[in-house]
Amino acid sequence: MKPSAPTSVLDLGVDLPWWLRTKFGQQPVLGQHRLHDQALFSDDALIALLDRFPRQHLYAHSMGNDPARLEDNHRVAIGDIDGAALLTAVKAGRLWLNLTRIDRAEAPYRQLISSLYEALSAQIPGFMPDASQGTLLISSPEALVYYHADAPASVLWHIRGRKRVWVYPALDHRYLAPELLEDIFAGVRHEYLPYLPAYDHAAVVHDLRPGQWLAWPQNAPHRVSNLDSVNVSLSTEHFTAASRRRFRVRVANRWFRIRLGFRELSTREDGAMAWAKTLTQRMARNLGLDPVKIHQQRPSLRLVAKASGHGHGVEAVTGDRE
Ligand SMILES: [Fe+2]
Repeated sequence: MKPSAPTSVLDLGVDLPWWLRTKFGQQPVLGQHRLHDQALFSDDALIALLDRFPRQHLYAHSMGNDPARLEDNHRVAIGDIDGAALLTAVKAGRLWLNLTRIDRAEAPYRQLISSLYEALSAQIPGFMPDASQGTLLISSPEALVYYHADAPASVLWHIRGRKRVWVYPALDHRYLAPELLEDIFAGVRHEYLPYLPAYDHAAVVHDLRPGQWLAWPQNAPHRVSNLDSVNVSLSTEHFTAASRRRFRVRVANRWFRIRLGFRELSTREDGAMAWAKTLTQRMARNLGLDPVKIHQQRPSLRLVAKASGHGHGVEAVTGDRE
């Protein structure tokens, strides 16, 4: 990431205790920030944001109560329901809104995310991401996110409400089969994963309050349950030479597995073999020999206006299947 002039860096109170600074990326670490002091996250600001945010990048989900029942997770179509009604629906129902790539649509968020990473880079030895992006999460009391693993490395900046986060061991076959991770990297499956409650014995659990951020090793499975309040968090993702190497090796391993039947290839991210596998997969892709069908979850519910409302005109998602 290019360093900005010091005057452009927002003072967001980012801090990680010194004894955790060498652990960043290696184990879950909990730090501090002051994002919640920013006017960007008030109800009025969120309503205005929801009104102008490109709807094709705004994803809504509804869910059940049991983290083991992924079948209760539904993508929700929100149509042209306005920002105020959407926020009301979040407060009253079980909705999870993802404003994806908010850094692309909103300049203040781009600056915010850049400033957050500049602050992290200043504190964490050797941490120099070359790109970053973010998704704003606005979610209902007691809403949850099912057990999953993300391809990029990420940091969760918690801003409003309380939430509980479970983080499971990274790159451990007992919690995430390598084939599933390869498919996630290739974009051919959603990030959701098979989950058993017994996994929780291995989890690190944090109850986050506003002003805290949590980071975990890249690809560590995790899940989230909101406590009894509306939650606002910023999820940021960062990219480094190492994270790109992992991406390339896992995508190459998938190609060798799917196309040539190789199993349990090395996941080593450096050296001649990693380079050769990556090069082979790239050549195959360029020749059209690695066709991938990008997975997209389609809405199965939609948010509907109340026939007789109490002024808000929106009900929680019980809605019609599309
Ligand atoms: Fe995640």
